[in-house]
Amino acid sequence: MLELSVEIPQNGNISPNEVSYALDEAAENEFAKLLDRPRTLTLENRQRSLDEKSLGDFSIMSPGVSSRNADNISYLADHLENIISSSRRSGINTPRSGFSTPRSQADFEPHPIVGDAWEALRRSMVYFRGEPVGTIAALDNSEEKVNYDQVFVRDFVPSALAFLMNGEPEIVKNFLLKTLRLQSWEKKIDRFQLGEGVMPASFKVYHDPVRNHETLIADFGESAIGRVAPIDSGFWWIILLRAYTKSTGDSSLAEKPECQKGMRLILSLCLSEGFDTFPTLLCADGCCMIDRRMGVYGYPLEIQALFFMALRCALVLLKEDVEGKEFIERIVKRLHALSYHMRSYYWMDFKQLNDIYRYKTEEYSHTAVNKFNVMPDSLPEWVFDFMPNRGGYFIGNVSPAKMDIRWFCLGNCIAILSSLATAEQSTAIMDLIEARWEELVGEMPLKVCYPAIESHDWRIVTGCDPKNTRWSYHNGGSWPVLLWLLTAACIKTGRPQIARRAIELAESRLLKDNWPEYYDGKQGRYIGKQSRKFQTWSVAGYLVAKMMLEDPSHLGMISLEEDKQMKPVLRRSASWTTI
Ligand code: GLC
Repeated sequence: MLELSVEIPQNGNISPNEVSYALDEAAENEFAKLLDRPRTLTLENRQRSLDEKSLGDFSIMSPGVSSRNADNISYLADHLENIISSSRRSGINTPRSGFSTPRSQADFEPHPIVGDAWEALRRSMVYFRGEPVGTIAALDNSEEKVNYDQVFVRDFVPSALAFLMNGEPEIVKNFLLKTLRLQSWEKKIDRFQLGEGVMPASFKVYHDPVRNHETLIADFGESAIGRVAPIDSGFWWIILLRAYTKSTGDSSLAEKPECQKGMRLILSLCLSEGFDTFPTLLCADGCCMIDRRMGVYGYPLEIQALFFMALRCALVLLKEDVEGKEFIERIVKRLHALSYHMRSYYWMDFKQLNDIYRYKTEEYSHTAVNKFNVMPDSLPEWVFDFMPNRGGYFIGNVSPAKMDIRWFCLGNCIAILSSLATAEQSTAIMDLIEARWEELVGEMPLKVCYPAIESHDWRIVTGCDPKNTRWSYHNGGSWPVLLWLLTAACIKTGRPQIARRAIELAESRLLKDNWPEYYDGKQGRYIGKQSRKFQTWSVAGYLVAKMMLEDPSHLGMISLEEDKQMKPVLRRSASWTTI
């Protein structure tokens, strides 16, 4: 297995040609040692990637926010990204055909299922008038199709990353442009017209056999089960546009007037002023990957983390013209408020849990400690055992008298990748995953959320949804697609060994089980009750995880450095300060 090792010379300057690759375990030890090594480098030595605009680059910075040296881990992760990006790819690309061996056989032995995965991914490609425009959600003919024969925006993200990492950007460009055209459609549900910026949940190609003509059909929620709103689609679209730009170096796509307008329309939807008292985004249930009633209404973590990441990506991509400038200013303000809110009120660790356990209620005025009037009795019992002494995570939801203490995988990983989580929080999230491996990973990575809702709670929260019974599907089911997010988070925090462990688990089952959509059970041992087979994002998620581990420079397209201007004000646990 190929590992990355970086020599840091005594003077602290690192140049691209000092990045070296080694083939053995020693490299990994070296990597681990580097993370612990106190560094003498100063912030001035840091090379910032060219496309990362800092909040400090804009004039409406809040005064008095000082930068300070980042900790070793975030420092090294940032540097790895910068150094490796600038020294160009390591060349460990899976070939365009996807089936043959890597460039140098000596570099690493690909796992035998990699070839099958590429075949499955290529079979899932959807063409529109001769051009590839996306990948179908699942190629499973044994089950009723419902809408699994469509290209889902969120599902296409890991496929897109796999293609970008493999040097095949065309399909990603086509996808971005086609979905942009769909955004400009007039969208109606019954008699209600949806916002202009709404991006579809999914689309498919309709072939008219009489006219021998192809058209696209999109679903903005008007056909979706439960008529759920795909709030995440627009955010993923912006994130993908930045990944495409970063990976190809081609900024002409993002600079197109229609792309700039598309971004502004999405941003208009989520930056509009209203009655809100929080900077987080108010959502209905089922508005994201968990697209059914699962108690994720209100201010769900997944959407807040994607919102934050999309705002940061838009900041990089928006032109500073008259229209763009106005949005940039609004984004900067929102990012400040959002990062403060999330880092302060969504963060949970041993110390914070103990504080809430002892909270007073009914406090009035700005001096209140228990700002949201959370009743300590509402804390579920499981969390007291679950919380390790070292480690922490962003909880699922916060609003008046409500704290959804469940752990959600996607939101926590995106928080790390977008640097919504500080370096200390990111480390703590990884500590928690390690400490609660049995619960969160078990036999198949990775739980979409933890724990499952059971009995009476299940009836109330899901509305008696038989697909979401305990430890199944969205209710504590295990989703292989999440592997790519875990791997990216592991690389960013300098803990590739965690990802490797998870990938090995997945490799032992995925091909044999025909790439299921999800697994059931407390340990994730059973193929999900209604799980589709040949689920494309399970395939693509695995490939992306593999490619990132083999060439960590890929991380740059889906990760953003911490902006030192957005330092948290609160410091809650010992684990934050001692790391
Ligand atoms: C299910 C999942 C959703 C996914 C879709 C297509 O509805 O809940 O997240 O996008 O299937 O795979």
